[in-house]
Amino acid sequence: MNAMPHAVSGTIRASAAPADGLGTSAARARSAELERLIHEDPGRFRVLTGDRPTGRLHLGHYFGTLHNRVRLQHLGVETFVLVADYQVLTDRDVADDLSGHVEELVLDYLAIGLDPGRATIFTHSAVPALNQLLLPFLSLVSVAELNRNPTVKDEIAHSRQPSVSGLMFTYPVHQAADILFCKANLVPVGQDQLPHLEITRTVARRFNDRYGRGTAVLPEPEALLSPAPLLLGTDGTKMSKSRGNAIALAADADETARLIRRARTDSERHITYDPAGRPEVSSLVLLAALCQDRAPEQVAEEIGSGGAGALKRHVTEAVNEYFAPLRARRAHYAQDRGQLRRVLREGNARANALADATLEEVRRAMNSLY
Ligand code: TRP
Repeated sequence: MNAMPHAVSGTIRASAAPADGLGTSAARARSAELERLIHEDPGRFRVLTGDRPTGRLHLGHYFGTLHNRVRLQHLGVETFVLVADYQVLTDRDVADDLSGHVEELVLDYLAIGLDPGRATIFTHSAVPALNQLLLPFLSLVSVAELNRNPTVKDEIAHSRQPSVSGLMFTYPVHQAADILFCKANLVPVGQDQLPHLEITRTVARRFNDRYGRGTAVLPEPEALLSPAPLLLGTDGTKMSKSRGNAIALAADADETARLIRRARTDSERHITYDPAGRPEVSSLVLLAALCQDRAPEQVAEEIGSGGAGALKRHVTEAVNEYFAPLRARRAHYAQDRGQLRRVLREGNARANALADATLEEVRRAMNSLY
């Protein structure tokens, strides 16, 4: 799959967390440098990324992050992909059908082209040594630090739960274990994950200071921030499963057509690409442009006075054409649950081998190998 389409470079995804201006721009500058280094020598990087299994992924996820992972995999970067089935327990809404959500997520991974022969796809719950790292790591951060994590604060503010669980405050430290157990040095993230990556770096640094006797037992990973397009959902607000405005990767051609047909537009007939002034129309134009690897301005111009009807037909066709092979691959794997289980079993075995080795190093450094 090719690099991030040129069409989207100017559009940066809005952050869920309050923007940390300086930190973000520094991370962005460093990310450009990292991109150069990756192209030069992909073998020096190990990537870890992950998702909470909350159900089917949608086109916002795809063009926001998933596409980028497959790109890194194809560049030859060793890739670990975590199905964060313990982290997702911060959200009781999804706990009901967790194993179903896990399967859907793995299906989406295989559909987009993550290759289980090259990428290690694994789950929290099957890797005990990863989870054990949480314990010493928790001792390295203060309650005050956990309390000021802007992403966690934001999640608490938006949670529909009557109370806040202990996991909600501590999951960023668990995420540090996700990253450090395999000594990943590169974490492709959106802006909202930067505070978690900072905690990870802090944990690694403090662990090394306290127990390393001059050696870096745990490497400090870096964020790879990539420009991600902001795709709006069919109601004109950010595409999100919980808002019911998303087009799932797994949707079929008819469902896609139906969803796009009822998408919000505006009363101006002539189609233009103007994200600030005409967000709904522009998001549809952007979606077609992303699927066709074209500039959105060019797509808009082509439709011109065809109006919303022509725009929607065009977008539907572009989405269905681009996603047809992915959807076919998804359907293929969906028929073979045994294969799905095998992918996870093999990924979990690889993750366990690494986690066991890292835990042993950690315990040795701490003088607690008995
Ligand atoms: N917190 C991430 C999210 O909500 C998921 C995640 C879990 C993750 N562990 C990770 C992301 C480690 C990057 C690295 O999307």
